[in-house]
Amino acid sequence: MNYENILLNTSNGIATIIINRPSKLNALNRATIQELHNAFKDADSDRDIKVIILTGSGEKAFVAGADISEFADFNVKEGGKLAAKGQELLFNFVENLSTPVIAAINGFALGGGLELAMSCHFRLASANSKMGLPEVSLGVIPGYGGTQRLPQLVGKGRAMEMIMTAGMIDATQAYNYGLVNHVTEQDELLPMAEKIASKIMRNSSVAITQAINAINANFKEGVDGFKAEIEAFGNCFGTADFKEGTSAFLEKRKADFPGE
Ligand code: COA
Repeated sequence: MNYENILLNTSNGIATIIINRPSKLNALNRATIQELHNAFKDADSDRDIKVIILTGSGEKAFVAGADISEFADFNVKEGGKLAAKGQELLFNFVENLSTPVIAAINGFALGGGLELAMSCHFRLASANSKMGLPEVSLGVIPGYGGTQRLPQLVGKGRAMEMIMTAGMIDATQAYNYGLVNHVTEQDELLPMAEKIASKIMRNSSVAITQAINAINANFKEGVDGFKAEIEAFGNCFGTADFKEGTSAFLEKRKADFPGE
Protein backbone atom coordinates (compact mmCIF):
# COMPACT_ATOMS: atom_id res chain seq x y z
CA MET A 1 0.00 0.00 0.00
CA ASN A 2 1.21 3.53 -0.76
CA TYR A 3 1.28 6.02 2.08
CA GLU A 4 1.83 9.77 2.01
CA ASN A 5 2.43 10.45 5.68
CA ILE A 6 4.09 7.33 6.97
CA LEU A 7 6.95 5.02 6.00
CA LEU A 8 6.87 1.29 6.55
CA ASN A 9 9.84 -1.08 6.80
CA THR A 10 9.45 -4.77 7.37
CA SER A 11 12.27 -7.16 8.08
CA ASN A 12 12.96 -10.17 10.30
CA GLY A 13 9.42 -10.31 11.65
CA ILE A 14 9.38 -6.62 12.66
CA ALA A 15 7.24 -3.94 11.03
CA THR A 16 8.61 -0.47 11.72
CA ILE A 17 6.05 2.27 11.16
CA ILE A 18 7.59 5.74 10.86
CA ILE A 19 5.38 8.81 11.04
CA ASN A 20 6.77 11.01 8.32
CA ARG A 21 5.71 14.67 8.35
CA PRO A 22 8.99 16.12 9.63
CA SER A 23 8.21 19.66 8.48
CA LYS A 24 5.19 19.59 10.86
CA LEU A 25 7.08 17.69 13.55
CA ASN A 26 5.01 14.63 12.57
CA ALA A 27 1.78 16.20 13.84
CA LEU A 28 -1.19 13.87 13.46
CA ASN A 29 -3.62 15.12 10.85
CA ARG A 30 -6.68 13.16 9.79
CA ALA A 31 -4.93 11.54 6.83
CA THR A 32 -2.04 10.36 9.00
CA ILE A 33 -4.41 8.84 11.56
CA GLN A 34 -6.19 6.92 8.78
CA GLU A 35 -2.91 5.75 7.27
CA LEU A 36 -1.65 4.63 10.67
CA HIS A 37 -4.88 2.70 11.20
CA ASN A 38 -4.41 0.94 7.85
CA ALA A 39 -0.73 0.19 8.48
CA PHE A 40 -1.38 -1.21 11.97
CA LYS A 41 -4.27 -3.30 10.66
CA ASP A 42 -2.21 -4.75 7.80
CA ALA A 43 0.78 -5.49 10.02
CA ASP A 44 -1.46 -7.14 12.60
CA SER A 45 -3.01 -9.45 10.04
CA ASP A 46 0.36 -10.42 8.53
CA ARG A 47 1.36 -13.72 10.13
CA ASP A 48 5.05 -13.02 9.48
CA ILE A 49 4.99 -9.83 11.58
CA LYS A 50 5.61 -10.59 15.24
CA VAL A 51 6.32 -7.11 16.63
CA ILE A 52 5.52 -3.56 15.50
CA ILE A 53 7.79 -0.61 16.31
CA LEU A 54 6.36 2.91 16.01
CA THR A 55 8.64 5.93 15.71
CA GLY A 56 8.84 9.39 14.14
CA SER A 57 11.00 10.52 11.24
CA GLY A 58 13.79 13.01 11.76
CA GLU A 59 15.74 13.71 14.93
CA LYS A 60 13.45 16.22 16.54
CA ALA A 61 10.02 14.72 17.02
CA PHE A 62 8.14 11.51 17.61
CA VAL A 63 4.85 13.39 17.19
CA ALA A 64 4.28 17.02 18.31
CA GLY A 65 0.57 16.46 18.79
CA ALA A 66 -2.67 16.43 16.89
CA ASP A 67 -2.53 18.83 13.95
CA ILE A 68 -3.79 22.05 15.52
CA SER A 69 -4.49 23.64 12.14
CA GLU A 70 -7.17 21.02 11.46
CA PHE A 71 -9.35 21.63 14.50
CA ALA A 72 -8.81 25.30 15.40
CA ASP A 73 -12.27 26.28 14.08
CA PHE A 74 -14.24 23.23 15.28
CA ASN A 75 -17.46 23.54 17.31
CA VAL A 76 -18.55 21.39 20.28
CA LYS A 77 -20.01 18.62 18.14
CA GLU A 78 -17.05 18.49 15.79
CA GLY A 79 -14.62 18.45 18.72
CA GLY A 80 -16.36 15.46 20.30
CA LYS A 81 -16.44 13.65 16.98
CA LEU A 82 -12.74 14.28 16.40
CA ALA A 83 -11.84 12.65 19.72
CA ALA A 84 -14.23 9.71 19.27
CA LYS A 85 -13.08 8.95 15.74
CA GLY A 86 -9.39 9.23 16.62
CA GLN A 87 -9.76 6.99 19.66
CA GLU A 88 -11.60 4.36 17.64
CA LEU A 89 -9.32 4.42 14.58
CA LEU A 90 -5.97 4.69 16.26
CA PHE A 91 -5.53 4.97 20.01
CA ASN A 92 -7.87 2.23 21.27
CA PHE A 93 -7.13 0.25 18.14
CA VAL A 94 -3.38 0.15 18.86
CA GLU A 95 -3.84 -0.60 22.55
CA ASN A 96 -5.98 -3.63 21.72
CA LEU A 97 -3.91 -4.92 18.81
CA SER A 98 -2.96 -8.63 18.94
CA THR A 99 0.62 -7.88 17.90
CA PRO A 100 2.94 -6.22 20.44
CA VAL A 101 3.56 -2.54 19.66
CA ILE A 102 6.65 -0.74 21.00
CA ALA A 103 6.83 3.06 20.85
CA ALA A 104 10.36 4.29 20.13
CA ILE A 105 10.08 7.95 21.19
CA ASN A 106 12.77 9.86 19.33
CA GLY A 107 12.06 13.48 20.31
CA PHE A 108 9.00 15.57 21.16
CA ALA A 109 6.00 13.42 22.15
CA LEU A 110 3.37 16.02 22.94
CA GLY A 111 -0.40 15.94 23.14
CA GLY A 112 -1.68 13.34 20.69
CA GLY A 113 1.95 12.22 20.26
CA LEU A 114 2.29 11.22 23.89
CA GLU A 115 -1.23 9.79 23.79
CA LEU A 116 -0.22 7.64 20.83
CA ALA A 117 2.95 6.48 22.61
CA MET A 118 0.82 5.65 25.68
CA SER A 119 -1.52 3.57 23.51
CA CYS A 120 1.43 1.39 22.51
CA HIS A 121 2.12 -1.62 24.73
CA PHE A 122 5.31 -0.07 26.12
CA ARG A 123 7.73 2.75 25.40
CA LEU A 124 11.45 3.49 25.00
CA ALA A 125 12.80 7.01 24.60
CA SER A 126 15.95 8.64 23.30
CA ALA A 127 17.69 10.95 25.75
CA ASN A 128 16.68 14.10 23.82
CA SER A 129 12.96 13.30 24.13
CA LYS A 130 10.48 15.65 25.76
CA MET A 131 7.00 14.52 26.75
CA GLY A 132 3.89 16.32 27.84
CA LEU A 133 0.18 16.91 27.43
CA PRO A 134 0.05 20.68 26.71
CA GLU A 135 -3.61 20.79 25.65
CA VAL A 136 -4.84 23.10 28.43
CA SER A 137 -2.42 25.72 27.11
CA LEU A 138 -4.60 25.67 23.97
CA GLY A 139 -7.86 25.82 25.88
CA VAL A 140 -8.70 22.16 25.38
CA ILE A 141 -7.93 18.88 27.18
CA PRO A 142 -6.29 15.66 25.97
CA GLY A 143 -8.91 13.90 23.84
CA TYR A 144 -7.14 10.80 22.59
CA GLY A 145 -7.16 8.94 25.90
CA GLY A 146 -4.52 11.06 27.69
CA THR A 147 -6.59 11.78 30.79
CA GLN A 148 -7.08 8.01 31.22
CA ARG A 149 -3.78 6.46 30.21
CA LEU A 150 -1.41 9.00 31.81
CA PRO A 151 -2.73 8.37 35.36
CA GLN A 152 -2.66 4.62 34.66
CA LEU A 153 1.03 4.87 33.81
CA VAL A 154 2.40 7.54 36.17
CA GLY A 155 -0.23 7.83 38.92
CA LYS A 156 -3.02 10.35 39.43
CA GLY A 157 -1.05 13.12 41.13
CA ARG A 158 1.73 13.22 38.54
CA ALA A 159 -0.83 13.11 35.72
CA MET A 160 -2.80 15.95 37.29
CA GLU A 161 0.36 18.06 37.54
CA MET A 162 1.54 17.29 34.01
CA ILE A 163 -1.88 18.05 32.51
CA MET A 164 -2.60 21.16 34.62
CA THR A 165 0.83 22.74 34.08
CA ALA A 166 0.92 21.74 30.38
CA GLY A 167 4.64 21.28 31.00
CA MET A 168 7.14 18.93 29.43
CA ILE A 169 9.23 16.31 31.19
CA ASP A 170 12.53 15.03 29.86
CA ALA A 171 13.40 11.39 29.17
CA THR A 172 15.02 10.85 32.57
CA GLN A 173 11.97 12.10 34.40
CA ALA A 174 9.74 10.01 32.15
CA TYR A 175 11.85 7.00 33.09
CA ASN A 176 11.61 7.86 36.78
CA TYR A 177 7.83 8.19 36.39
CA GLY A 178 7.60 4.76 34.71
CA LEU A 179 6.28 6.36 31.54
CA VAL A 180 9.10 4.85 29.48
CA ASN A 181 10.89 1.59 30.22
CA HIS A 182 14.33 2.52 28.87
CA VAL A 183 16.25 5.65 27.86
CA THR A 184 19.02 5.49 25.30
CA GLU A 185 21.06 7.66 22.96
CA GLN A 186 19.18 8.54 19.79
CA ASP A 187 21.25 6.32 17.48
CA GLU A 188 20.72 3.38 19.84
CA LEU A 189 16.94 3.77 20.04
CA LEU A 190 15.85 1.57 17.13
CA PRO A 191 18.58 -1.04 17.74
CA MET A 192 17.36 -1.29 21.35
CA ALA A 193 13.73 -1.59 20.24
CA GLU A 194 14.74 -4.29 17.75
CA LYS A 195 16.71 -6.15 20.41
CA ILE A 196 13.67 -6.22 22.69
CA ALA A 197 11.50 -7.22 19.72
CA SER A 198 13.78 -10.17 18.99
CA LYS A 199 13.41 -11.36 22.60
CA ILE A 200 9.63 -11.11 22.28
CA MET A 201 9.69 -13.06 19.02
CA ARG A 202 11.27 -16.10 20.66
CA ASN A 203 8.05 -16.63 22.60
CA SER A 204 4.61 -17.83 21.61
CA SER A 205 2.80 -15.12 19.65
CA VAL A 206 -0.61 -16.58 20.49
CA ALA A 207 0.22 -16.59 24.22
CA ILE A 208 1.44 -12.99 23.91
CA THR A 209 -1.90 -11.99 22.36
CA GLN A 210 -3.74 -13.63 25.26
CA ALA A 211 -1.45 -11.79 27.69
CA ILE A 212 -2.15 -8.42 26.02
CA ASN A 213 -5.89 -9.05 26.33
CA ALA A 214 -5.62 -10.09 29.98
CA ILE A 215 -3.44 -7.12 30.95
CA ASN A 216 -5.71 -4.67 29.12
CA ALA A 217 -8.73 -6.17 30.90
CA ASN A 218 -7.37 -4.67 34.13
CA PHE A 219 -8.06 -1.20 32.75
CA LYS A 220 -11.48 -1.78 31.18
CA GLU A 221 -14.57 -0.41 32.83
CA GLY A 222 -16.84 -3.14 34.15
CA VAL A 223 -14.49 -5.98 33.21
CA ASP A 224 -13.17 -8.38 35.85
CA GLY A 225 -9.48 -8.69 34.95
CA PHE A 226 -9.03 -11.87 36.99
CA LYS A 227 -11.88 -13.55 35.10
CA ALA A 228 -10.42 -12.32 31.81
CA GLU A 229 -7.08 -13.81 32.82
CA ILE A 230 -8.67 -17.17 33.65
CA GLU A 231 -10.34 -17.26 30.26
CA ALA A 232 -7.17 -16.20 28.42
CA PHE A 233 -5.14 -18.77 30.39
CA GLY A 234 -7.61 -21.50 29.44
CA ASN A 235 -7.53 -20.47 25.79
CA CYS A 236 -3.79 -21.11 25.66
CA PHE A 237 -4.34 -24.82 26.39
CA GLY A 238 -6.09 -25.22 23.04
CA THR A 239 -3.16 -23.92 21.00
CA ALA A 240 -0.40 -25.66 19.08
CA ASP A 241 2.06 -23.21 20.67
CA PHE A 242 1.19 -24.56 24.12
CA LYS A 243 1.77 -28.15 22.98
CA GLU A 244 5.09 -27.13 21.44
CA GLY A 245 6.23 -24.99 24.39
CA THR A 246 5.51 -27.63 27.03
CA SER A 247 6.85 -30.53 24.89
CA ALA A 248 10.04 -28.62 24.13
CA PHE A 249 10.60 -27.96 27.82
CA LEU A 250 10.06 -31.61 28.76
CA GLU A 251 12.27 -32.78 25.87
CA LYS A 252 14.97 -30.26 26.92
CA ARG A 253 15.05 -28.52 23.53
CA LYS A 254 14.33 -25.02 22.28
CA ALA A 255 10.69 -24.41 21.37
CA ASP A 256 9.87 -23.74 17.73
CA PHE A 257 6.46 -22.10 18.00
CA PRO A 258 4.12 -22.45 15.01
CA GLY A 259 2.24 -19.30 16.14
CA GLU A 260 -1.11 -21.09 16.25
N1 COA B 1 0.02 20.90 14.90
C1 COA B 1 0.27 21.50 13.74
N2 COA B 1 1.49 21.94 13.39
C2 COA B 1 2.50 21.74 14.26
C3 COA B 1 2.31 21.11 15.51
C4 COA B 1 0.99 20.68 15.82
N3 COA B 1 0.71 20.04 16.96
N4 COA B 1 3.48 21.09 16.18
C5 COA B 1 4.38 21.67 15.37
N5 COA B 1 3.79 22.08 14.22
C6 COA B 1 4.42 22.73 13.07
C7 COA B 1 4.64 24.23 13.34
O1 COA B 1 3.47 24.96 13.10
C8 COA B 1 5.75 24.52 12.35
O2 COA B 1 5.17 24.61 11.07
P1 COA B 1 5.58 25.83 10.08
O3 COA B 1 7.06 25.67 9.88
O4 COA B 1 4.77 25.58 8.86
O5 COA B 1 5.23 27.08 10.81
C9 COA B 1 6.57 23.24 12.35
O6 COA B 1 5.71 22.22 12.85
C10 COA B 1 7.80 23.32 13.23
O7 COA B 1 7.38 23.68 14.54
P2 COA B 1 8.00 24.91 15.38
O8 COA B 1 6.98 25.34 16.38
O9 COA B 1 8.52 25.94 14.45
O10 COA B 1 9.25 24.19 16.07
P3 COA B 1 9.94 24.62 17.44
O11 COA B 1 11.19 23.82 17.52
O12 COA B 1 10.06 26.11 17.54
O13 COA B 1 8.94 24.14 18.61
C11 COA B 1 7.42 22.60 19.70
C12 COA B 1 8.68 22.77 18.81
C13 COA B 1 7.10 21.13 19.72
C14 COA B 1 7.73 23.09 21.11
C15 COA B 1 6.26 23.41 19.08
O14 COA B 1 6.14 23.06 17.71
C16 COA B 1 4.91 23.17 19.72
O15 COA B 1 4.67 23.66 20.81
N6 COA B 1 4.01 22.42 19.06
C17 COA B 1 2.66 22.21 19.50
C18 COA B 1 2.65 21.21 20.63
C19 COA B 1 1.23 21.02 21.13
O16 COA B 1 0.63 21.92 21.70
N7 COA B 1 0.71 19.83 20.92
C20 COA B 1 -0.60 19.46 21.37
C21 COA B 1 -1.59 19.64 20.29
S1 COA B 1 -3.21 19.20 20.88
